[in-house]
Amino acid sequence: MNETIKRIAVLTSGGDAPGMNAAVRAVVRSSVFYQIECYAVYQGYQGLIDGNFKEFSARSVNNIVNKGGTLLKSARSLEFRTPEGRKRAYDNLIKHEIDALVVIGGDGSFTGAMIFQNEFNFPVIGIPGTIDNDIFGTQFTLGYDTAINTVIDVIDKIRDTASSHNRLFFVEVMGRDAGHIALNSGIGAGAEEILIPEENRGLEQLLESLKKSEKSGKSSSIVVVAEGDKTGKNVFELAAYVEKNLPYYEVRVSVLGHMQRGGSPSCFDRVLASRMGVHAVESLRDGKSNVMVGVMNDTMKLTPLEHAIKGKSEINKDLLRVTDILSI
Ligand code: F6P
Repeated sequence: MNETIKRIAVLTSGGDAPGMNAAVRAVVRSSVFYQIECYAVYQGYQGLIDGNFKEFSARSVNNIVNKGGTLLKSARSLEFRTPEGRKRAYDNLIKHEIDALVVIGGDGSFTGAMIFQNEFNFPVIGIPGTIDNDIFGTQFTLGYDTAINTVIDVIDKIRDTASSHNRLFFVEVMGRDAGHIALNSGIGAGAEEILIPEENRGLEQLLESLKKSEKSGKSSSIVVVAEGDKTGKNVFELAAYVEKNLPYYEVRVSVLGHMQRGGSPSCFDRVLASRMGVHAVESLRDGKSNVMVGVMNDTMKLTPLEHAIKGKSEINKDLLRVTDILSI
């Protein structure tokens, strides 16, 4: 047991994700449970640099388990990328007598955390919070489950209008360079085609599949496009390309955008956040540092930050096969 950890700080960084508040709550409450003082840092790394700290009690995190976004705010700090910025952040942590830092964010945030830990030998632990689910070392990141449920809700609505007008819809979803959101929400929403960065099947295949759909008697179709797909065309160009080559289709485009990041976290994300927050504090007490908390096969595990950043979180390619079978 690391008795030297008496005070920790927690921040949220990078793109907000549903479940971040539940994770902050879990970090604060488990700290209090173990008689560790807990400080919240506002505005991510920028708040560390500016000294934007506030001591939290167990009551400070009442009624936030169900809230979307992040009450601690988030920022992408350019200053933290400089040695001077990181030194100011370190000085503030020392000034507030903080012994360890919990960073809730994605791979960019973890890169900052790792550099910081290496420069100052300051204990840091990561909790993966991003809707993209693109972090190695965990099967699920916070916010991903909520995001895919938001996406299928919206696609269900789009399907109503698509089918009423016999239209083909291209729906662009987020995910940065990863296709997890597209693949899973695409299957969940019964999409005819799913375009993801991990497997570029080419434009010919897309046309073939849409031709088949039309011949098989489908009057409307949904194609889910990951924002990072590798077709070489953006979603509007894709729509124009299909309309030109298959003129019998009336095509519309919907870019879902930031609505995918909002909303109350799903039960799955709340439970995951709670488990991750508790495990992060317990791991710090056990003397662990420079690691990320993750979940694999329903068991909490730690992964070195370096691996979490450099490793690739693979998509399940079997899901593509499932789509092909079901979209006949
Ligand atoms: O990483 C989360 C994410 O929402 C990605 O899916 C998306 O590419 C990106 O952030 C958008 O970033 P911003 O909010 O800075 O536009």
